[in-house]
Amino acid sequence: MEIRIVPLSEGEKKAKFTDESKLGFGKIFTDRMLLVEWKAGQGWVDARIKKHEPFVLDPAALVLHYAQEIFEGLKAYKWADGSIALFRPEMNARRFNHSAERLCMPEVPEELFVGGIEQLVSLERDWVPGAEGTSLYIRPTMIAVEPVVGIKPSDHYYFYVILSPVGAYYPQGFKPVRIMVESKYVRATPGGTGEAKTGGNYASSLKAGLEAKEKGFDQVLWLDGVEKRYIEEVGAMNMFFVYGDTIVTAPLQGTILHGVTRDSVLTLARSLDLKVEERRIDVNDLMKDIKSGAITEAFGSGTAAVVTPVGALCYKEECLEVSGGQVGKHTRTLYDTLTGIQTGKIADTFGWIRKI
Ligand code: COI
Repeated sequence: MEIRIVPLSEGEKKAKFTDESKLGFGKIFTDRMLLVEWKAGQGWVDARIKKHEPFVLDPAALVLHYAQEIFEGLKAYKWADGSIALFRPEMNARRFNHSAERLCMPEVPEELFVGGIEQLVSLERDWVPGAEGTSLYIRPTMIAVEPVVGIKPSDHYYFYVILSPVGAYYPQGFKPVRIMVESKYVRATPGGTGEAKTGGNYASSLKAGLEAKEKGFDQVLWLDGVEKRYIEEVGAMNMFFVYGDTIVTAPLQGTILHGVTRDSVLTLARSLDLKVEERRIDVNDLMKDIKSGAITEAFGSGTAAVVTPVGALCYKEECLEVSGGQVGKHTRTLYDTLTGIQTGKIADTFGWIRKI
């Protein structure tokens, strides 16, 4: 599908950041966005790259009432030679369409999703930061814009992509975070929308996150919604526990997100001769295994979070340090290998990099 480029005047271009160490996460946006509409009876129409600016939405737009919305997160990296690389964008395209199917939204053709991002990032290449730990965060999103207050799938959607130059997701950078196992609220139940990347999952997690923050934690670790017993995910990360040379993570059974970084970490771990187990993890066993020292490291993975070490885990009244509160050796190796491939310092033998 042809994408029209709406020219920007010099006056419409924003001043760029000057200090890459102060980017933070998701607060600055580039000059342009991609916008494509889907209309019942017509399909995808009017693809254009235009100024990043507010939408005019009818107050009755379905997304504002019934949250028919999905999104993705991926990154572009600036390599030392000045070239720009995307990391596994086709995986995000597939997950986006999986979410679309669950939310009764139209699928975005993979060529439009990936090709549109490539064209947009290419136009905005001056916005991609190059300092260590920085990248251009890419946020593809689809919203239901038909103005109607009856509950039904929309007959009009916006698929759009915005870009944000970012540093580390956690303000402390690559340092261990403190995680609280959530024993009161639940994130997802079987048959629900847990494995779809939809805003509602994040809205419903805010209360638990806020209460955990008040107690000094960075994030909550969700348990399964039926027995409140098995480890699921941390909203912004999939979770991994290291038993010596074996890495254990929860299986994908419908309630947790199919993380692109999760898949990459598992593949890298196997290539580094670590053993990998995808199995249910009982929170009581987990606490016992941390206490006995059987668990030597814990970390989370996500596009925004990359590989984030976990230094402390608390469940109910019990708080335990993991890895002596330090970054574990496998966590460090996986972080270095993953970011090395993403930034061109380590050869990509997996076919993950897409240069633009
Ligand atoms: C991502 O890692 O890209 C996400 O979408 C998580 C979000 C909470 C920042």
